[in-house]
Amino acid sequence: MSTVTYDVEAVRARFSALQRPLAFFDGPGGTQVPDEVIDAVSRYYRESNANVSGPYETSRRTEALVEQARVSAGAFLGCSPDEITFGANMSTLAFALTRAAGRSWREGDEILVTKLDHDANVSPWLELAHDKGLVVRFVEIKDDTTLDLEDLERKLSDRTRVVAFPVASNAVGTRTDVRRIAELAHDAGALAWADAVHYGPHGPIDVADWGVDVLICSPYKFFGPHLGVAFGRADLLETWRPYKVRPAADTPVGRRFETGTLAHELLAGFLAAVEYIDSIGWEAIKAHERTLGERFLNGLRESVTLYGLPTMEGRVATFAFNVEGMSAEDAATRLGDAGYAVWWGDYYAVEVMKRLGLGDDGAVRAGIVHYNTADEVDGLLSEIERL
Ligand SMILES: Cc1ncc(COP(=O)(O)O)c(C=O)c1O
Repeated sequence: MSTVTYDVEAVRARFSALQRPLAFFDGPGGTQVPDEVIDAVSRYYRESNANVSGPYETSRRTEALVEQARVSAGAFLGCSPDEITFGANMSTLAFALTRAAGRSWREGDEILVTKLDHDANVSPWLELAHDKGLVVRFVEIKDDTTLDLEDLERKLSDRTRVVAFPVASNAVGTRTDVRRIAELAHDAGALAWADAVHYGPHGPIDVADWGVDVLICSPYKFFGPHLGVAFGRADLLETWRPYKVRPAADTPVGRRFETGTLAHELLAGFLAAVEYIDSIGWEAIKAHERTLGERFLNGLRESVTLYGLPTMEGRVATFAFNVEGMSAEDAATRLGDAGYAVWWGDYYAVEVMKRLGLGDDGAVRAGIVHYNTADEVDGLLSEIERL
């Protein structure tokens, strides 16, 4: 029996953005931001705005902020602050870090990606492979959209340098067995490279416990600003030659992979977002999402085709579906007009949509996070039924 008490209305009161008659089921594309995050960003501009390394107060405040942001990101991901690299977003970090990782790889070396991935965890490898003559293989998913670990094992070889995979699918919500994938990768002498962008708002990340070598996520998916954060194992990062300007600092090791001036104001917002999540707690967040996810799944009628796992076991509360006799675009547009913010298309999860036999129109996607309410879920279900 859970002892967690959670007051969703008290939580919603912390978001000006939620005080409008629109039900936000668009978390997978980016979540809303509590006022404390917005305030932290503007406070930075009022009180601390400067570049680092200047011999005066605001510059020192900015340096302290960047240091604090590394500490906070380290605590959030379960690693040392030194192992953190900040960047514009996940895609930018992925292109940069794959380049650095692959500098010493040889023609014919192999990379595994999965059909469950967002393309931001695929195309950086395809481009690297294009330039260096590497081979990219796609790990299959099963009909229920879970990752086929036997196929993964079959595709590993002594040439595999990396296994890149998602922690959760941004299309169908399916989770992966991160520890097991990391073990399989390591047994083959390959790196375990995780995309935690979609998983970010749904549960705690622990890179040490999971045993991954690299993990990238995006704070704008977990109630923070538009920013990317990467973890790389320190002794691994030490072996990569960074693409950097010569005068930029070499320490801490994660810093080497940051190019140019950081978005200091967004780091201030990031700190506030992590504090916001801490103030609520993952147990409450997970329990609330699970309850709402079950409510949504139980309320779906037969005229709706759900893609992916039919219960909350093994997934997060992100649902892709189509309504009989209607395109995904039409259905999503009508839901939007009725006050329900949902998505449609392939959400850049190209391979999973292909595997599900979905064309360009893709499917409607509704994502639940902890600030959604049972009333919103019921309203969405009624509106879907009305379609
Ligand atoms: C699973 C997943 N990976 C990667 C990305 C790309 O993230 P970013 O926008 O930070 O580059 C997204 C964005 O939706 C995503 O959902």
